[in-house]
Amino acid sequence: MKIVLLPGDGIGPEIMDATVSVMDAAAKKFGFTLEYDKQLLGGCAIDAYGDPFPEVTEKAAHAADAVMLGAVGGPKWDHVDPSIRPEKGLLRIRKSLGLYCNLRPMKVSRFTTHLSPLKEDRVAGTDLLIVRELTGGIYFGTHNEAALVNGVETASDVDLYTRPEVERIARKAFEAAKKRRGKVSSVDKANVLAESRMWRRIVTEMQEKDYPDVELNHFYVDNCAMQLVLNPAQFDVILTNNIFGDILSDEASVLGGSIGLLPSASLGDGTGLYEPIHGSAPDIAGQGIANPTGTILSAAMMFRYSLDKPEAADAIEAAVDKVYADGFRTPDLAGAGLTKVNTAKLGELVAQAVLDAK
Ligand code: NAD
Ligand code: IPM
Ligand code: MN
Repeated sequence: MKIVLLPGDGIGPEIMDATVSVMDAAAKKFGFTLEYDKQLLGGCAIDAYGDPFPEVTEKAAHAADAVMLGAVGGPKWDHVDPSIRPEKGLLRIRKSLGLYCNLRPMKVSRFTTHLSPLKEDRVAGTDLLIVRELTGGIYFGTHNEAALVNGVETASDVDLYTRPEVERIARKAFEAAKKRRGKVSSVDKANVLAESRMWRRIVTEMQEKDYPDVELNHFYVDNCAMQLVLNPAQFDVILTNNIFGDILSDEASVLGGSIGLLPSASLGDGTGLYEPIHGSAPDIAGQGIANPTGTILSAAMMFRYSLDKPEAADAIEAAVDKVYADGFRTPDLAGAGLTKVNTAKLGELVAQAVLDAK
């Protein structure tokens, strides 16, 4: 199986190295071979090619069985032309691979509930899945950079969805809910935005017509943000657009103690891409202390959704649990009675736990 690795920028290469050791352990344990093709995306690609998503990366990604990404971006490239920002490289690879469906599962581990910024009893039992639309909406509408309009500096971004775009992501959410607790919470801003009013109408129609057994409720995004800290365990599947999904997933991630814990899968009709939800963390890059768990769990999602190796996915998830149960933590989650380890060591411990599994 051919995997394209895109370590990217900042902590990207550190968390990717730790994850590769876990993927290698899974390959060894279950008797398959992984062939890695390391390519550039983001700031490192701007430095090498003057392009955050060079053709060679695009070709490799399309030819791969799956793509693993670390993170892109950083202060070094914050002032380049917006058309070639590192983040633009990420948006382009999502578009190029047609990755309209971003799954961001958030299950609070019993080993980290006490590290949540919320009281333990509020987060206990939280197990939700954010289904985020990833190739449309305001991210991909026309961006009119700041310019003088009638003598006044003006900028705008167009928030646009089409019916087929809403239908295909909503279908993913309803299907996911059927395999979980049967509940979809659709999040929009229908009290203000036309895009949201169409979204809400289409999602409602689909539930009535095709998914009568799935419970559907709607939240305005401001209320949803509040409900996520008030009572996160009420959510099963959260269905939302590109920008609201971006914001709500960072908020949801930390309920389990650290943004470094959350994996994601970006899926379309071809090659899938797997990445943690966090960024390149320039404030801690180069120190070897980033939490690789979100990336390692993204590799588990890759084995499950793209490579048809569910046993490897289960083993990696169980190995992460074991390492946490044994008290090992990167500094973002360290505390009294726990053993503080660096990025590479956490990867080694998870890899060993995969190899040692029954
Ligand atoms: P960030 O997610 O990089 O960092 C936010 C905070 O969380 C920081 O304090 C950071 O140290 C911490 N953090 C993040 N990941 C961590 C980990 N694995 N372990 C421990 N702590 C972790 O967000 P930001 O600072 O807003 O953005 C930095 C850069 O990353 C920007 O250029 C942004 O555009 C980019 N970004 C990229 C991606 C991606 O590549 N998928 C996602 C988000 C942000
Ligand atoms: C994410 C990131 C990206 C996004 C940025 C870096 C373009 O924040 O994957 O959550 O907004 O989608
Ligand atoms: Mn984000």
